Amino acid sequence: MVASESHVLDIRDLTIEFPVYGGAVRALDGVTLSVGAGEIVGVVGESGCGKSVMAMLSLRLLPDGRYRVIDGGVSLLGHDVLAAPERELVRLRGGQAAMVFQEPLTALNPTRRIGRQMIEVIRRHRPIDRAAAKTLAIRLLGDMRIADPAEIMERYPFELSGGMRQRVLIALAFSSEPAIVIADEPTTALDVTVQRQVLSLLRRRARRSNAAILFITHDMGLVSQFTDRVYVMYAGRIVETGPTDAVLSAPAHPYTRALLEGLPEQATPKALLRAIPGNVPDLRQPPIGCGFANRCSHVFGKCAERPPLAPVSGAEGRRSACWLDSLGSAEA
Ligand SMILES: Nc1ncnc2c1ncn2[C@@H]1O[C@H](COP(=O)(O)OP(=O)(O)O)[C@@H](O)[C@H]1O
Ligand SMILES: [Mg+2]
Repeated sequence: MVASESHVLDIRDLTIEFPVYGGAVRALDGVTLSVGAGEIVGVVGESGCGKSVMAMLSLRLLPDGRYRVIDGGVSLLGHDVLAAPERELVRLRGGQAAMVFQEPLTALNPTRRIGRQMIEVIRRHRPIDRAAAKTLAIRLLGDMRIADPAEIMERYPFELSGGMRQRVLIALAFSSEPAIVIADEPTTALDVTVQRQVLSLLRRRARRSNAAILFITHDMGLVSQFTDRVYVMYAGRIVETGPTDAVLSAPAHPYTRALLEGLPEQATPKALLRAIPGNVPDLRQPPIGCGFANRCSHVFGKCAERPPLAPVSGAEGRRSACWLDSLGSAEA
């Protein structure tokens, strides 16, 4: 598969299954997604919709043999991820394509000081000596607005707050000058205020070196503050995509609308923050028609047929997988 030159990540029609007892879980079903150079792209959806599987497969981090590729592929910086030899991917991971995950404590070795770990990771991807790696580590921590980097480097991971640990890991992610950082729920373990601080630092840092970010979250509030473009994912499929501001101000898909209605800012003062009624479908029996039909208040006969991800009329760069072209105009 050949990548489009302006895309750092290109996922095309990707359909994968996990064989399980008595059947298979169709975790991704025809997913197409791209990330351009320097772009900050969000993927949002409830738990169990396939976001992490997609993030992991972008770097082929799932063990070979545990899943089947039914269709499609992944191109990352021109590498055919699902076909490349493992040694090619080892160079990519943590190099030109970096990752940040939710729990920073497990990504750091608890028994070794921050500085030693940083120097080691830096030298894995760069042919520089210890002293140069140390200088670079201090600079990278400074980039993440850590006031006293030399002091932080002397600490053990457990001596830092969760927010500080995540800043350290983001600093480290940028040590290899990545073209893309894949961040899967990077701040979900942190409290709300710290989440926003860490994300704005991540965003600023990425902009500075023109790195792209694939930002995965279940939180529409974070998508709205942090991303340029968004993909809404439901039951292993992309159901809506477009520029973040446009999608959030006039969602075309009922699922996007339902996610937005769950935001605290949208709730009336006394109303409880409400979850979307019903559940994500069991992906061992992937939906034939629209996966959201059983939870949708607009459902009609045609929803038994799978809606294509089609252009939203009159809205450039937007696509939605709903038989109602645009809910906003349908209801107006
Ligand atoms: N190794 C696996 N074996 C079987 N099913 C899996 C495996 N990993 C993930 N799944 C299933 O794939 C679906 C998507 O999971 P995931 O990508 O983790 O969702 P999300 O990150 O959106 O919460 C879920 O139904 C999950 O149970
Ligand atoms: Mg996940």
